[in-house]
Amino acid sequence: MLDRLNHVAIAVPDLEAATALYRDTMGAGVSEPQSLPEHGVTVVFVTLANTKVELLHPLGEASPVQGFLEKNPAGGIHHICYEVPDILAARDRLIADGLRVLGDGEPKIGAHGKPVLFLHPKDCCGTLIELEEEKQL
Ligand code: CO
Repeated sequence: MLDRLNHVAIAVPDLEAATALYRDTMGAGVSEPQSLPEHGVTVVFVTLANTKVELLHPLGEASPVQGFLEKNPAGGIHHICYEVPDILAARDRLIADGLRVLGDGEPKIGAHGKPVLFLHPKDCCGTLIELEEEKQL
């Protein structure tokens, strides 16, 4: 069911400083910041040869990243994202096995324009997991 690692997301308290760290100090390619109001985050994508890192910074009042940064003021790994070929089939199988899907259980369009879902960290080794549908052509 799981396919590639799509990205690792890191919550950061200072997006400019984090972008400069990855771009200037570590020498990675980084995107311009993208605001995603429906997800409550501003994102910078760090492109690596085999995957991506997403630097997440809170946007708006009810950002899901705000509470995380209050508990982890220096920032930290927020979630990891795996690709699945069929997100509804993956969801139904995981729910049948007792895992909890966050929110209303329906996929939302994520940062890459593809459907995503999040799984409850308590059901997944303490890790918030995002599933993103990658249609295989
Ligand atoms: Co993500």
